[in-house]
Amino acid sequence: MGVGLALGLLTLFLTGGDSASAALRDEFAGAYPKTAIASGELVEIRLEAKVGSVDIVGVETSDVWTYNGSVPGPEIRLGLGDTLRATLVNHLPESTSIHWHGVRVPNDMDGVPGVNQDPVEPGEEFVYEFTPPDAGTFWFHSHSRGSEQLERGLYGSLIVEELEPVGYSQDVVWMVDDWLLDENGQLVEEFDELHDITHNGRWGNVVTANASLAPAVSGAPGERIRLRLINSSNARTYAPEFRGIDAQIIAVDGMLVGEIFPADQFVLAPGNRIDVDLVIPDSGDTVTVIDDFSGEGFAIGTITAVGDPVATPTFPSPVNPDVPRWDGAAAVEADHGYIVSLGQQSSGQPEWRFNGVAFPGDKPTPLTQGKFEKIRIFNDSQVLHPIHLHGQFFKVISRNGEPIDERHFRDTVLLMPGDFIEIGLVPLDEGTWLLHCHIQEHAEAGMATTFFVG
Ligand code: C2O
Ligand code: CU
Repeated sequence: MGVGLALGLLTLFLTGGDSASAALRDEFAGAYPKTAIASGELVEIRLEAKVGSVDIVGVETSDVWTYNGSVPGPEIRLGLGDTLRATLVNHLPESTSIHWHGVRVPNDMDGVPGVNQDPVEPGEEFVYEFTPPDAGTFWFHSHSRGSEQLERGLYGSLIVEELEPVGYSQDVVWMVDDWLLDENGQLVEEFDELHDITHNGRWGNVVTANASLAPAVSGAPGERIRLRLINSSNARTYAPEFRGIDAQIIAVDGMLVGEIFPADQFVLAPGNRIDVDLVIPDSGDTVTVIDDFSGEGFAIGTITAVGDPVATPTFPSPVNPDVPRWDGAAAVEADHGYIVSLGQQSSGQPEWRFNGVAFPGDKPTPLTQGKFEKIRIFNDSQVLHPIHLHGQFFKVISRNGEPIDERHFRDTVLLMPGDFIEIGLVPLDEGTWLLHCHIQEHAEAGMATTFFVG
């Protein structure tokens, strides 16, 4: 009878857990599409990875690495449903690959050498082809030796426009990056420095958007524009401050939010994006968007009013009412847990580890497609780690034991030193996906692991 009762209670308990998890899954249904609906339009582009130079601080900075000769590479714009066929041509002195950050691509298009594809060797080409299922602000970047290849400039934006135009009079992308330049305006060519690996990665001494110092957006006072910020830095985190401007966040990491919120001080870690709905201020005003994260006060860009005022259009900001709240998520057991820590190889080289192992580590951790999964991550270190999951979006459930009600999905979340977070997701896209730190020096030193969704 004791055993029977215990079994009965166990069944009850398991059913309780299962139904809580099933409710979370059901709440997620419809939040974003399982697959893309192709329009039949094909957009073709060649992306030639090659050495170039760019004017960042008034002199030519040579030995930057570019797509098609510019930093950032070409801005790729698609309509939702369009298929992109991008041919990477490698003219670099070493192998490379492209990752489409935030886009739910077929697994073999995800760009991680050794996980999704073979490295693309010098002189070789590789064709990436996919139809993004989601509209939003995405970006592409090298996923090979990022600590040097991203730092030298191998990135660009990928914008997928909504089917219905939203009504902004301008749609502007700022790819925010920092550069470590010497007194001649040339790149400091020491990558993967021990100090950077063991601390917060390589931080530059110059902050740019679209590789220029404080680029300007201008418009008529009252004009309403969409400004997309992408943090393409190796390591630097920003907290852009839109002082005195009516600026609301409408999307995070590409995906529309459930409810808009003020743009000030969003923590934009490497990999993160925000879409900002803002109104150009009064005539004659220039507002400088300042980074308030590091305390160094770098300017990111400026917003200037020119000409006669116009009436501000009153359309509602676009939102996604189907972002789940997942209030019940705090109560369910975590399915997986990770401790992030710094260790040492037998050679003495530092390495970053998930649960004591550096990449490639063990077999991929299995996640069940279509089920609510909860993952815990504890940052057992003294430095920052922006954690990025490929192929899936997640929501932050709690931070340091406090439930968090972010009204949006993410693909990247910053862990501060000692942070303990819980995230929830319903994996939809099949295959082996990377989970890693977006500080390139940490990733290069092993800070990556994999999931298998099937
Ligand atoms: Cu933008 Cu694996 O990263
Ligand atoms: Cu890290």
